[in-house]
Amino acid sequence: MVQRTKVFVGNIVHCNKPFTVQTLEKGFVVVNEKGKIIAVDNLSALDSCKDKLGSFEEILLNDNQLLMPGFVDTHFHAPQYPNAGLGYDKPLLDWLQTYTYPLEKKYSDTEFAKTVYDAVVKRTLAAGSTTVSYFATLHLDSSLLLAEAAIKFGQRAFIGKVNMTELAPPDYVESPEDTISNTLEFIHKLVAKKCHLVQPIVTPRFALSLDLNDLNKLGQIANKFDLNIQSHISENKAEVEMVRDKFDDLLYAEVYDKTSLLTNKTVLAHAIYLTDSEIELLAERSTSVSHCPDSNTCLKSGLCDVKKLLKAGVNVGLGTDISGGYSTSIMNAMRSAVAVSTHVSFEREDYDPLNVYDVFYLATMGGAKALALNHKIGNFEIGKEFDAIVGEVQECFHPHTALELLQKFIYTGDDRNVLQVYVCGKRVK
Ligand code: GUN
Ligand code: FE
Repeated sequence: MVQRTKVFVGNIVHCNKPFTVQTLEKGFVVVNEKGKIIAVDNLSALDSCKDKLGSFEEILLNDNQLLMPGFVDTHFHAPQYPNAGLGYDKPLLDWLQTYTYPLEKKYSDTEFAKTVYDAVVKRTLAAGSTTVSYFATLHLDSSLLLAEAAIKFGQRAFIGKVNMTELAPPDYVESPEDTISNTLEFIHKLVAKKCHLVQPIVTPRFALSLDLNDLNKLGQIANKFDLNIQSHISENKAEVEMVRDKFDDLLYAEVYDKTSLLTNKTVLAHAIYLTDSEIELLAERSTSVSHCPDSNTCLKSGLCDVKKLLKAGVNVGLGTDISGGYSTSIMNAMRSAVAVSTHVSFEREDYDPLNVYDVFYLATMGGAKALALNHKIGNFEIGKEFDAIVGEVQECFHPHTALELLQKFIYTGDDRNVLQVYVCGKRVK
């Protein structure tokens, strides 16, 4: 269905440069019928702009409302949603075996998968996540159902059929042959759906799930079809040690680099225990990190020094990491990222922790860049696709600037404060 041209008028905030929030107090954004941004300006230019438009729909924001880019969740395990908030009594490797793999195994049941995946997409859209990078499970059919849920509800998404051939229960691993052939079939079937918003992403679970040969085959597949890649890295000390033992003293990042998995379209979750040389390697390859502060706390994985990654030139986005994390909301991830960075600063001299504007950048442009979508979404540059949220701060007792509204929205808001959500110009909440 062709959309009407839309003109949004009100307070606008977005990051026009790295870590810089631009505000247009009483500004406007024009979105054409294809969902692309064709004008952004101050109110004084509105009348002359309207004169040049044909018919359009005007969306007027009130003084307590804010138009901002949609949030990007760079790391979400959709099948783990039924476990959100459960089982934080065990560290990563025990948690995977005790709670996670037994739940993921259930997605051989496509009815169950459809029920959960529909709920996940609706919930994340309601929370303002216009783009999500999802891990599904090993199952080909139910992974396609996750893609169908995103298509049906209008979310921009990457969908990963997970690859895992070892270190899991015998009835929840694939053979090396199947993991490759099923991945190829998954990619072809998803691409055949011809939905430009929903794309496959190559998803080796982590270095302990596959051998070098299979990791390498997945690197080749990503390269051949020019696909994004997602995985985990250096989340937990025991995990890092096992990787060193398994791969003859290669560093964790070297395992991925050796198998062509470190690209500028790769996003790696956690990255808590990277050495300086690994951080340098990620920066060199333009590989991004998904920072998942809630998960890192719940599973007692550790404190990620995001400022150090950024200083070294590594791009960072935010991830909820359901169900390592408990919250489906990137607003919650923003608050937790500030909290964790502040806690890191208590132990350091001259350490400037992430602030509320920094995490707004990570949640929008940082995430867009992590998924190699920074030329398409992430802010309100003319020519980009319009993925956006209308947020509202309830109970304002005196007037606030747009920047104050943004602070209050991030710190005190939840999905009840996310009034409207748009993906590629289409209203999805
Ligand atoms: N490492 C490998 N698999 C997982 C997972 O499902 N969640 C988290 N947090 N870490 C992992
Ligand atoms: Fe994860």
